[in-house]
Amino acid sequence: MDLLRRLTRLPFVLGLWERFPIGPLPTRVHYGIFPYPHYAYGVYWAAVSASRLQIPRISVIEFGVAGGRGLVALEHVSTRIERELGVGIDVVGFDSGAGMPPPVDYRDLAHIWAAGFYKMDPEALRARLTRAQLVLGEVGTTTQQWLRGAVRAPIGFVAFDLDYYSSTKAAFALFEGPEAVHLPRVYCYFDDIVSNALGCINEHVGELLAIREFNESHSKRKICRIEGVRIHRPNWEDWQDRMYAFHDFAHSKYTTLVTERTPRETERPL
Ligand SMILES: C[S@@+](CC[C@H](N)C(=O)[O-])C[C@H]1O[C@@H](n2cnc3c(N)ncnc32)[C@H](O)[C@@H]1O
Repeated sequence: MDLLRRLTRLPFVLGLWERFPIGPLPTRVHYGIFPYPHYAYGVYWAAVSASRLQIPRISVIEFGVAGGRGLVALEHVSTRIERELGVGIDVVGFDSGAGMPPPVDYRDLAHIWAAGFYKMDPEALRARLTRAQLVLGEVGTTTQQWLRGAVRAPIGFVAFDLDYYSSTKAAFALFEGPEAVHLPRVYCYFDDIVSNALGCINEHVGELLAIREFNESHSKRKICRIEGVRIHRPNWEDWQDRMYAFHDFAHSKYTTLVTERTPRETERPL
C-alpha cells in the first residue's frame, strides 16, 4: 500500500489509472480514481452505512446541475457502487434549468455570481443521462414537492453546489423530513465554502451561513464537517475540507454499530 501511495503521488499516475480503471472498487474510491472523487467518497460510505444498517436502497442527490458534468459522474459512480455493495441507489439532480436566479442580497455573494450564470440545455442533458431523475424548477419549491412525492429511498449523500446562501437554505428543507427520509448520517459535499482571493467567502455569507443558521435552529439535527478526512486518505485532495455530514441524533438507528465487530476499522483509517 505504501508503494501504491508513493506511485499515486507521481503526477501522471492518477490520470492514467482513471483512464484504465483496474483494481478493486474500494481501492479506487480510496485513491480517488473517479472524475468526481468526492462524489465517489460520499456515495460509497453512504452505501456502506446503509448496508450495515440493513437498509436496501438509498437516494443520492446533486443540488445545482448546470451542464451536468457532476450528475453524469454521480450516475457513473452510483452504478459501480451499487454493483459492488448490493445497495440500490436512486440518483436525483435539482436545478432551475435556466441558470442562476438573481441573488437576493449580499449573502448570496453577488460579487461572485450573477443571474443567468451556468445555463443548462435540459434536453441535451436528458439525452446524456442514463438513470438520474432531473428535477427542474426553483429548489425552494421542488425540494418540498419531491419530499411530499412518492415514497423515497432514504437520502445517503447530497452534493450542494447551488452557490447562493438563499438557494442552499431552501434546499435544506430536505433535512426537515421524518427520519424515514434520510440515513442517520447523510454525507454532504459543499462546493462553495472555499474561494479565490476575490471571493473572500466566509461564515457570514453563502453556504457557510446557511449551515450555521441550520445548526443554530436545530438541537438534535446538525450539519458538521467530517473531521480529519485528510488523515484517512492516501493523498491530499482539495475537496477533503468540504466533506460534511448531516446528523439526525434522534434517528432510531443513529447509535447502531456500523463499524466491523473486529477493532480493525476503528484502529486503522476508514
Ligand atoms: C455551479 S452550478 C452547478 C455545477 C454542477 N454541480 C457541476 O459540477 O457541473 C450552480 C447551479 O445551481 C443552480 N441554482 C442556483 N440557485 C438555484 C435555485 N434557487 N433553484 C434552482 N437552481 C438553482 C443554477 O441553475 C446552476 O446551474
